[in-house]
Amino acid sequence: MCGIIGYCGPKNATKVIVQGLRRLEYRGYDSAGIAVGSNGSLKVIKSKGKIKDLHNKIPEDLESTYGIGHTRWATHGVVNDINAHPHVDCTGDLAVVHNGIIENFESLKNMLKAEGHTFHSETDSEVIVHLIEKYFKDDLEKAVKEALPLLKGTFGIVCVHAKEPGTIVGARNGSPLVMGIGLDEMFLASDVTAIIAHTKQAVYLEDGEIVVIKPDGFVTTDIDDRQVTKEIEQITWELQEIEKNGHPFFMEKEIIEQPESIRRAISGRIDKDQATAHLGGLNLSTKDLTNIERVKIIAAGTSYYASMVGAYLLEAIPRIPAIAELASEVRYRNPIIEKNTLYFAVTQSGETVDTLYAMKELKRKGATVLGICNVVGSSIARDSDGGVYIHSGPEIAVASTKAFTSQISVFYLFSLLLARMRDLSFSEGEKFIQDLQSIPFKVEKILDMRLKIKEMAKKYAHCSDFLFLGRGVNYPVALEGALKLKEISYIHAEGYSSAEIKHGPIALINEDTPSLFLVPDDDLRGKIISNIKEVKARKGKVIAICVEGDEEIKDIVDDIVEIPKTTELFYPFLMVIPLQLFAYYCALELGRDVDQPRNLAKSVTVE
Ligand code: M6R
Repeated sequence: MCGIIGYCGPKNATKVIVQGLRRLEYRGYDSAGIAVGSNGSLKVIKSKGKIKDLHNKIPEDLESTYGIGHTRWATHGVVNDINAHPHVDCTGDLAVVHNGIIENFESLKNMLKAEGHTFHSETDSEVIVHLIEKYFKDDLEKAVKEALPLLKGTFGIVCVHAKEPGTIVGARNGSPLVMGIGLDEMFLASDVTAIIAHTKQAVYLEDGEIVVIKPDGFVTTDIDDRQVTKEIEQITWELQEIEKNGHPFFMEKEIIEQPESIRRAISGRIDKDQATAHLGGLNLSTKDLTNIERVKIIAAGTSYYASMVGAYLLEAIPRIPAIAELASEVRYRNPIIEKNTLYFAVTQSGETVDTLYAMKELKRKGATVLGICNVVGSSIARDSDGGVYIHSGPEIAVASTKAFTSQISVFYLFSLLLARMRDLSFSEGEKFIQDLQSIPFKVEKILDMRLKIKEMAKKYAHCSDFLFLGRGVNYPVALEGALKLKEISYIHAEGYSSAEIKHGPIALINEDTPSLFLVPDDDLRGKIISNIKEVKARKGKVIAICVEGDEEIKDIVDDIVEIPKTTELFYPFLMVIPLQLFAYYCALELGRDVDQPRNLAKSVTVE
């Protein structure tokens, strides 16, 4: 949730760290701080608010060659300067930044206070710095190794000591930490976006590992001081991918990128000769694939709604019983692992703790869990038994958009693969591939209509409640549309199956509560139209996302967005784009901070 960066090398560390924090701001943005080595001591500057507020507090001439920085998403303690990281020890010589949660912080705090340590913040993180201080004699790494076994919970930590200028110690347990290797300079960060302006060489730390970096190299060990050999990996993301490139917000850029990101998700994975798909990273043999009797998918947020689409497809296309479940619920339900059941953990970031821990629980019980991930080298990508990268490129806006369409792209491919091993004929497979490959062009057509959607958003952005209604494979899309609207515009929105409104939600309908109906030209169209009429009879305003040329709908509803025609099961791709745009433009109209909505953060690494 929080962003971490550490730097040692010949450049001005203050500048490198602040630039890194700007790139990490999407991970948490309520406060930030730095601790840099300057003239034999540490200079610590912290500020409530955005990185620009921190930047305003930093003297222009603050030179340094090493230091650490942090951008916070508050868990323990209100948002203020004192609770911002880094936290320092009683001497002011030792500073620590932390991502994660220390569960036993209260007992540690009491112990350390009784021993004479003075605490300033309300955070759980401050115990870490005093604990390291307790063990520090003249060796920071040694002190960290003595302190860590006392911590219960999750952490990615990075620390510096004024008595060891140029050295940074990092450790990981449950929260990501990646090391960047430059020329005579080294970096530690919570994710690669903070360092790709400087280096493409990365080493991903595993839980239980400790790293010491100095400008000329690094040493990785485990808690028992055994050396660990690490592989250096190449970062594939480009700097321009994490820039706005002329767009006012990353969300706009990421919505518009979707024709390309969908193409990337499917490219190289279609076998036209056999009218099937191949997904290299699954690590499953043909026999394994034919033996699958059931699929269970775990995820959170938007990834959960993409998983619901996936489960629908797996039942509809290869006819395999499938279900999507909230990872947070699966973990604590003592899940039953059934024979011949394949599990997927679906996640953009690969760091969502609810999904990561549910995956670990399933694996502990013997399940095979594959990841559907965007971020290469992320915890879920590394800990899963195999999987598929969605190749969306970096998704920086807190509201997930292109990851959704890329995740469902992978489910279309996987469904095709399994179906072609079962009952789907060659010609049906060919038709399926044609439909899938035509989607990016149809998405382009919808994006071309964005000014119309912008106008519509202006008309409705003042409403305080919304219903999003869809059925079948588009039901999860309605849920996603409601999530998108509420998280960035703060307009209250609920998603339902349109069949459900008569069971309760219709009580909400009045002139001020619009309903947005998803109306594909499928078998349920007639029933959805009846639901629309029920809403209209109660004076509710209705927006319909319908298929171009649907004249009947035009006469019934207040506003329409017409999308290109496709085959029934492919509508989620086309239905979701207007909903993303509608949410985006409503948020713009209301003057919201679209990329960094209140109370949220990208990548939720706490439970
Ligand atoms: O990184 P993940 O896909 O695991 O993230 C899951 C959710 O936290 C995420 O989709 C969240 O709901 C977004 N803010 C939705 O836009």
